[in-house]
Amino acid sequence: MAEFTLPKNSKIQPGKTYSMAAGAKNKKTFRIYRWDPDSGENPRMDQYEIDLDKCGPMVLDALIYIKNDIDTTLTFRRSCREGICGSCAMNIDGTNTLACTKYISDTKNDLPVYPLPHMEVKKDLVPDLTHFYAQYASIKPWIETQSAPPPDRERLQSKEDREKLDGLYECILCACCSTSCPSYWWNSDRYLGPAILLQAYRWIADSRDETTGERLDNLEDPFRLYRCHTIMNCTNTCPKGLNPAKAIAEIKKLMVTRSI
Ligand code: SF4
Ligand code: SF4
Ligand code: FES
Repeated sequence: MAEFTLPKNSKIQPGKTYSMAAGAKNKKTFRIYRWDPDSGENPRMDQYEIDLDKCGPMVLDALIYIKNDIDTTLTFRRSCREGICGSCAMNIDGTNTLACTKYISDTKNDLPVYPLPHMEVKKDLVPDLTHFYAQYASIKPWIETQSAPPPDRERLQSKEDREKLDGLYECILCACCSTSCPSYWWNSDRYLGPAILLQAYRWIADSRDETTGERLDNLEDPFRLYRCHTIMNCTNTCPKGLNPAKAIAEIKKLMVTRSI
Protein backbone atom coordinates (compact mmCIF):
# COMPACT_ATOMS: atom_id res chain seq x y z
CA MET A 1 0.00 0.00 0.00
CA ALA A 2 1.28 3.48 -0.84
CA GLU A 3 2.34 5.51 2.16
CA PHE A 4 2.03 9.27 2.12
CA THR A 5 4.02 11.35 4.53
CA LEU A 6 5.25 14.91 4.76
CA PRO A 7 8.86 15.65 3.80
CA LYS A 8 11.10 15.93 6.88
CA ASN A 9 11.36 19.73 6.68
CA SER A 10 7.56 20.15 6.61
CA LYS A 11 6.83 18.21 9.79
CA ILE A 12 5.38 20.49 12.45
CA GLN A 13 7.40 20.53 15.69
CA PRO A 14 6.26 21.51 19.18
CA GLY A 15 6.97 25.23 19.68
CA LYS A 16 7.40 27.75 22.44
CA THR A 17 4.90 28.32 25.24
CA TYR A 18 3.99 31.78 26.50
CA SER A 19 1.92 31.75 29.72
CA MET A 20 0.78 35.33 30.11
CA ALA A 21 -2.46 34.92 32.04
CA ALA A 22 -1.46 33.99 35.59
CA GLY A 23 -4.38 34.80 37.90
CA ALA A 24 -6.66 35.81 35.03
CA LYS A 25 -10.31 34.80 35.32
CA ASN A 26 -10.96 34.81 31.60
CA LYS A 27 -8.14 33.09 29.78
CA LYS A 28 -7.60 31.05 26.65
CA THR A 29 -4.78 29.28 24.86
CA PHE A 30 -4.11 29.95 21.18
CA ARG A 31 -1.98 27.38 19.31
CA ILE A 32 -0.54 29.22 16.33
CA TYR A 33 1.35 27.89 13.30
CA ARG A 34 4.78 29.50 12.97
CA TRP A 35 7.25 29.21 10.12
CA ASP A 36 10.07 31.54 9.24
CA PRO A 37 11.66 30.82 5.83
CA ASP A 38 14.88 32.56 6.91
CA SER A 39 15.45 30.36 9.96
CA GLY A 40 15.96 27.05 8.15
CA GLU A 41 13.87 25.43 10.88
CA ASN A 42 10.75 23.30 10.57
CA PRO A 43 7.34 24.84 11.20
CA ARG A 44 6.20 24.73 14.81
CA MET A 45 3.07 25.39 16.87
CA ASP A 46 3.59 28.11 19.50
CA GLN A 47 1.17 28.29 22.43
CA TYR A 48 0.02 31.59 23.87
CA GLU A 49 -2.10 31.57 27.00
CA ILE A 50 -3.62 35.04 27.22
CA ASP A 51 -5.95 37.04 29.43
CA LEU A 52 -9.01 37.69 27.26
CA ASP A 53 -9.90 40.75 29.33
CA LYS A 54 -6.85 42.43 27.78
CA CYS A 55 -8.04 42.19 24.17
CA GLY A 56 -11.16 42.67 22.06
CA PRO A 57 -13.69 39.94 21.27
CA MET A 58 -12.46 38.75 17.86
CA VAL A 59 -9.69 36.31 16.97
CA LEU A 60 -7.94 39.15 15.13
CA ASP A 61 -7.99 41.22 18.35
CA ALA A 62 -6.19 38.37 20.13
CA LEU A 63 -3.59 38.08 17.35
CA ILE A 64 -2.95 41.83 17.50
CA TYR A 65 -2.66 41.66 21.30
CA ILE A 66 -0.16 38.79 21.05
CA LYS A 67 1.89 40.67 18.44
CA ASN A 68 1.85 43.97 20.35
CA ASP A 69 2.36 42.68 23.88
CA ILE A 70 3.85 39.19 23.81
CA ASP A 71 5.67 38.22 20.62
CA THR A 72 6.38 40.84 17.96
CA THR A 73 7.64 38.19 15.53
CA LEU A 74 4.15 36.80 14.88
CA THR A 75 3.24 37.58 11.26
CA PHE A 76 -0.24 37.83 9.76
CA ARG A 77 -2.15 40.01 7.31
CA ARG A 78 -5.00 42.34 8.21
CA SER A 79 -6.30 45.71 7.19
CA CYS A 80 -9.96 46.69 7.55
CA ARG A 81 -10.87 44.64 10.66
CA GLU A 82 -14.50 44.56 9.52
CA GLY A 83 -14.82 41.77 6.94
CA ILE A 84 -14.28 43.94 3.88
CA CYS A 85 -10.68 43.56 2.69
CA GLY A 86 -10.36 39.77 2.90
CA SER A 87 -6.75 39.92 4.04
CA CYS A 88 -7.13 38.22 7.46
CA ALA A 89 -8.43 34.91 6.02
CA MET A 90 -6.92 31.93 7.85
CA ASN A 91 -7.86 28.50 9.19
CA ILE A 92 -9.32 28.96 12.68
CA ASP A 93 -10.59 26.01 14.69
CA GLY A 94 -10.51 23.86 11.55
CA THR A 95 -12.47 26.24 9.32
CA ASN A 96 -11.33 28.81 6.80
CA THR A 97 -12.71 32.17 7.87
CA LEU A 98 -11.89 35.82 8.60
CA ALA A 99 -10.07 36.43 11.89
CA CYS A 100 -11.71 39.85 12.23
CA THR A 101 -15.29 38.57 12.13
CA LYS A 102 -14.73 35.36 14.13
CA TYR A 103 -15.72 35.72 17.79
CA ILE A 104 -13.25 34.16 20.22
CA SER A 105 -16.27 33.05 22.26
CA ASP A 106 -17.42 30.87 19.33
CA THR A 107 -14.21 28.82 19.39
CA LYS A 108 -12.93 26.07 21.64
CA ASN A 109 -10.16 26.51 24.19
CA ASP A 110 -6.73 25.47 22.95
CA LEU A 111 -7.63 27.16 19.68
CA PRO A 112 -5.63 26.06 16.61
CA VAL A 113 -4.84 28.78 14.06
CA TYR A 114 -3.19 27.88 10.74
CA PRO A 115 -2.68 29.69 7.43
CA LEU A 116 -5.17 28.92 4.64
CA PRO A 117 -4.61 25.27 3.67
CA HIS A 118 -2.81 23.98 0.58
CA MET A 119 -1.16 27.29 -0.25
CA GLU A 120 2.55 28.08 -0.18
CA VAL A 121 3.33 29.91 3.05
CA LYS A 122 5.33 33.14 2.97
CA LYS A 123 5.66 33.30 6.77
CA ASP A 124 3.53 32.20 9.76
CA LEU A 125 -0.13 32.89 8.87
CA VAL A 126 0.57 34.58 5.52
CA PRO A 127 -0.17 32.49 2.40
CA ASP A 128 1.26 33.29 -1.03
CA LEU A 129 -1.69 34.46 -3.17
CA THR A 130 0.32 35.26 -6.32
CA HIS A 131 -1.17 32.39 -8.34
CA PHE A 132 -4.69 33.10 -7.02
CA TYR A 133 -4.49 36.73 -8.20
CA ALA A 134 -3.06 35.67 -11.58
CA GLN A 135 -6.07 33.39 -11.99
CA TYR A 136 -8.30 36.34 -11.07
CA ALA A 137 -6.67 38.51 -13.75
CA SER A 138 -7.23 35.71 -16.30
CA ILE A 139 -11.03 36.11 -16.14
CA LYS A 140 -10.78 39.83 -17.00
CA PRO A 141 -12.61 41.22 -13.96
CA TRP A 142 -13.91 44.36 -15.61
CA ILE A 143 -16.72 45.30 -18.02
CA GLU A 144 -15.78 44.66 -21.65
CA THR A 145 -17.85 46.31 -24.37
CA GLN A 146 -17.99 46.29 -28.16
CA SER A 147 -20.58 49.01 -28.78
CA ALA A 148 -19.81 52.73 -28.62
CA PRO A 149 -20.55 54.29 -25.23
CA PRO A 150 -23.58 56.61 -24.94
CA PRO A 151 -22.36 60.15 -25.74
CA ASP A 152 -23.87 61.88 -22.72
CA ARG A 153 -23.95 59.42 -19.82
CA GLU A 154 -22.56 56.20 -18.39
CA ARG A 155 -23.87 52.78 -19.42
CA LEU A 156 -27.03 52.31 -17.39
CA GLN A 157 -28.50 49.14 -15.92
CA SER A 158 -32.11 48.43 -14.93
CA LYS A 159 -32.92 47.74 -11.29
CA GLU A 160 -33.75 44.13 -12.21
CA ASP A 161 -30.42 43.64 -14.00
CA ARG A 162 -28.56 45.17 -11.07
CA GLU A 163 -30.26 42.71 -8.72
CA LYS A 164 -28.76 39.83 -10.73
CA LEU A 165 -25.39 40.81 -9.24
CA ASP A 166 -26.59 40.33 -5.65
CA GLY A 167 -24.75 37.44 -4.05
CA LEU A 168 -21.81 38.01 -6.43
CA TYR A 169 -20.55 41.58 -6.02
CA GLU A 170 -20.11 41.08 -2.26
CA CYS A 171 -17.20 38.66 -2.76
CA ILE A 172 -14.07 40.06 -1.09
CA LEU A 173 -11.64 37.57 -2.69
CA CYS A 174 -10.53 36.25 0.69
CA ALA A 175 -9.82 32.78 -0.86
CA CYS A 176 -11.48 30.92 2.05
CA CYS A 177 -13.63 29.00 -0.45
CA SER A 178 -10.92 28.06 -2.95
CA THR A 179 -8.61 26.84 -0.20
CA SER A 180 -11.37 24.63 1.23
CA CYS A 181 -12.07 22.98 -2.14
CA PRO A 182 -10.48 19.52 -2.59
CA SER A 183 -10.51 19.93 -6.39
CA TYR A 184 -8.56 23.18 -6.00
CA TRP A 185 -6.10 21.55 -3.59
CA TRP A 186 -5.11 18.94 -6.17
CA ASN A 187 -5.48 20.91 -9.42
CA SER A 188 -4.99 24.59 -8.62
CA ASP A 189 -2.44 24.84 -11.43
CA ARG A 190 -5.28 24.45 -13.95
CA TYR A 191 -8.62 24.58 -12.09
CA LEU A 192 -9.76 28.16 -11.37
CA GLY A 193 -11.52 27.27 -8.11
CA PRO A 194 -14.74 28.63 -6.60
CA ALA A 195 -13.66 32.21 -5.81
CA ILE A 196 -12.43 32.95 -9.31
CA LEU A 197 -15.37 31.16 -10.94
CA LEU A 198 -17.82 33.17 -8.82
CA GLN A 199 -16.03 36.30 -10.01
CA ALA A 200 -16.14 35.04 -13.61
CA TYR A 201 -19.90 34.63 -13.30
CA ARG A 202 -20.23 38.10 -11.75
CA TRP A 203 -19.03 39.60 -15.09
CA ILE A 204 -21.00 37.13 -17.23
CA ALA A 205 -24.16 38.10 -15.31
CA ASP A 206 -23.58 41.85 -15.75
CA SER A 207 -26.03 43.21 -18.34
CA ARG A 208 -23.53 45.92 -19.37
CA ASP A 209 -20.85 43.43 -20.44
CA GLU A 210 -20.89 42.50 -24.13
CA THR A 211 -18.41 39.63 -24.23
CA THR A 212 -20.36 36.74 -22.69
CA GLY A 213 -19.41 34.41 -25.57
CA GLU A 214 -15.68 35.06 -25.15
CA ARG A 215 -15.96 34.69 -21.38
CA LEU A 216 -17.63 31.29 -21.75
CA ASP A 217 -15.07 30.24 -24.40
CA ASN A 218 -12.35 31.05 -21.89
CA LEU A 219 -13.94 28.71 -19.32
CA GLU A 220 -14.86 25.87 -21.72
CA ASP A 221 -12.10 23.55 -20.60
CA PRO A 222 -12.03 20.25 -18.68
CA PHE A 223 -9.90 21.83 -15.94
CA ARG A 224 -10.65 25.55 -15.69
CA LEU A 225 -14.36 24.97 -14.97
CA TYR A 226 -15.22 21.29 -14.95
CA ARG A 227 -13.00 20.21 -12.05
CA CYS A 228 -15.85 21.35 -9.78
CA HIS A 229 -17.57 18.19 -8.53
CA THR A 230 -20.19 20.00 -6.45
CA ILE A 231 -18.65 18.99 -3.11
CA MET A 232 -19.99 22.29 -1.61
CA ASN A 233 -17.13 22.96 0.85
CA CYS A 234 -16.83 26.38 -0.77
CA THR A 235 -20.37 27.47 0.02
CA ASN A 236 -20.23 26.04 3.54
CA THR A 237 -17.13 28.04 4.43
CA CYS A 238 -17.71 31.45 2.78
CA PRO A 239 -17.55 34.03 5.62
CA LYS A 240 -19.71 36.42 3.56
CA GLY A 241 -22.52 33.85 3.19
CA LEU A 242 -22.12 33.62 -0.60
CA ASN A 243 -22.74 30.56 -2.75
CA PRO A 244 -19.86 29.96 -5.19
CA ALA A 245 -21.15 26.46 -6.01
CA LYS A 246 -24.38 28.01 -7.33
CA ALA A 247 -22.44 30.49 -9.47
CA ILE A 248 -20.44 27.60 -10.93
CA ALA A 249 -23.68 25.71 -11.63
CA GLU A 250 -25.03 28.80 -13.44
CA ILE A 251 -21.94 28.90 -15.68
CA LYS A 252 -22.35 25.19 -16.47
CA LYS A 253 -26.03 25.80 -17.33
CA LEU A 254 -25.04 28.56 -19.76
CA MET A 255 -22.52 26.20 -21.36
CA VAL A 256 -25.28 23.64 -21.94
CA THR A 257 -27.78 26.24 -23.18
CA ARG A 258 -25.44 27.61 -25.79
CA SER A 259 -24.52 24.14 -27.09
CA ILE A 260 -28.14 23.11 -27.94
S1 SF4 B 1 -16.89 33.60 -2.42
FE1 SF4 B 1 -16.78 33.99 -0.22
S2 SF4 B 1 -15.10 32.67 0.52
FE2 SF4 B 1 -14.91 32.83 -1.69
S3 SF4 B 1 -13.45 34.49 -2.00
FE3 SF4 B 1 -15.53 35.37 -2.14
S4 SF4 B 1 -15.97 36.07 -0.07
FE4 SF4 B 1 -14.22 34.70 0.10
S1 SF4 C 1 -18.68 22.83 -5.14
FE1 SF4 C 1 -17.03 22.81 -6.64
S2 SF4 C 1 -15.85 24.59 -6.16
FE2 SF4 C 1 -17.14 24.21 -4.36
S3 SF4 C 1 -15.85 22.96 -3.01
FE3 SF4 C 1 -16.99 21.63 -4.30
S4 SF4 C 1 -15.68 21.13 -6.03
FE4 SF4 C 1 -14.88 22.95 -5.03
S1 FES D 1 -9.04 42.55 8.30
FE1 FES D 1 -10.17 42.92 6.46
S2 FES D 1 -11.43 41.17 6.28
FE2 FES D 1 -10.43 40.88 8.19
